[in-house]
Amino acid sequence: MAKPATDLSPQAYLRPEIAALAGYVPGEQPTDPGVVKLNTNENPYPPSAAVRRAITDACERLHLYPDPSAREVRERVARLYGVDPAGVIVGNGSDELLSLLMRAVIAPGDAVAYGTPTYSLYDTLVALQAGRTIHIPYGPDYGIPRELLSVNARLLIVCNPNAPSGTAVPRRALEELAEARRDVLVVIDEAYADFADENATAMGSRHPNVIVLRTLSKSYSLAGLRVGIGITTPGLAAELNKVKDSYNVSRLAQAGAVAALDDQASMLAHVARVRATRARLVRELERLGYVVPPSQANFVLARRPGRSQQSVKEALQSRGVLVRYFGDLPDALRITVGTDAEIDRLIVELKSL
Ligand SMILES: Cc1ncc(COP(=O)(O)O)c(C=O)c1O
Repeated sequence: MAKPATDLSPQAYLRPEIAALAGYVPGEQPTDPGVVKLNTNENPYPPSAAVRRAITDACERLHLYPDPSAREVRERVARLYGVDPAGVIVGNGSDELLSLLMRAVIAPGDAVAYGTPTYSLYDTLVALQAGRTIHIPYGPDYGIPRELLSVNARLLIVCNPNAPSGTAVPRRALEELAEARRDVLVVIDEAYADFADENATAMGSRHPNVIVLRTLSKSYSLAGLRVGIGITTPGLAAELNKVKDSYNVSRLAQAGAVAALDDQASMLAHVARVRATRARLVRELERLGYVVPPSQANFVLARRPGRSQQSVKEALQSRGVLVRYFGDLPDALRITVGTDAEIDRLIVELKSL
C-alpha cells in the first residue's frame, strides 16, 4: 500500500468513539503525605496487619501466575453473603467488572439507563462501546426514578448508596425493580454498601437478571490493591468469565483479599468509626449553611444551592485539603469522611473561608 504523504494523527488509527471521548478524570492522587485527602472516597484507616502479612507471604510465589478464578476469594465471599461461589466473579477493582459488563452486554447503539447524578465512569464506559446513555434525573428524595421501570435499555444501573449524593434506596425498591425488569440486566453497584444500614448483595444470586458489584477499595481499606467482586447467578458468571482476562487479579491482590475478608472485625471497626465521623461532619457542615442529603456512604455531598463551590474547592486545595468538585454540580462539594483529625482540619479551613 502507498505511503501517505503525511503522517496520520494518533486518532486516525483508532475507532472514532475513542477520538471523540474526553476520558474519565479521576480525583487527584497527590504524592505529598501531608495533604488532607478527602477527594476519592478512600478509607482513612490502613488495612490490618493480617493483610500485610498475607501479601508479603504471597511474594514467595510471584513466579507463578495467580489462580484465574480467584477461588479462595470467591469462597470467602460466598460464605459471607450465603451465595453460591460459582456465581461470584472477582475483578481488578469493581471498575474492571463494570467495564467487563459493558463489553459483554453493550453493542453499538444499545442503551444503558441510570439515575443521575451518579458515578460518571458509567458514561465513559458506555461511550467506549459506542452505546447510548439514558440519564434519568433523580428527584429531590433520590428514590429510584420511576422511568427505570419502563425505559427501553439493554442495561440498567443503580448505584446504591449513590455517588456523589451518598443517598440510598431501600432494598425493597431494588427487589421491585428487579422483578419488574426481568427483560433486562440490572447492575446494582454497592461500592459503599458496608457504610449503609442495609445491603441487597444476596439479591444477585436470587434474580437471574441481577448482578451486584462490591469492592474491597472502600470498607476494607484496599483501594491500592484493586479487588472488586460481582455476585450473580452461576449461569451469568460463566458467561462473564468468557470475557474476563485470565489473570485479571494478581496473586498479591488475591492473598490480601482473602486475609481482609477473613478479618471482618477490622473492617467493621473502621466502618463504625467512619459512620461516627460522618454524623459529626454532617452536623458541622449544616452549621456552616450547607444542605447535606442523608448519606449512607463514606462521603457526603455538601450543597449551597445557587452558590458555586469551585472557589471554595480551590481555596481548600491551596491550604492542603482536597475535596471533589464536579462541573455539572457547581453548587456542591463531595467530601470523603476522613479521620476525626482530618475532618477537624477541613472544618477549621471552611470556617476561615
Ligand atoms: C460508585 C462506585 N463504583 C465503583 C467504584 C470503583 O471502585 P474500585 O476501586 O473497586 O474499582 C467507585 C470508586 O470510587 C465508585 O464510586
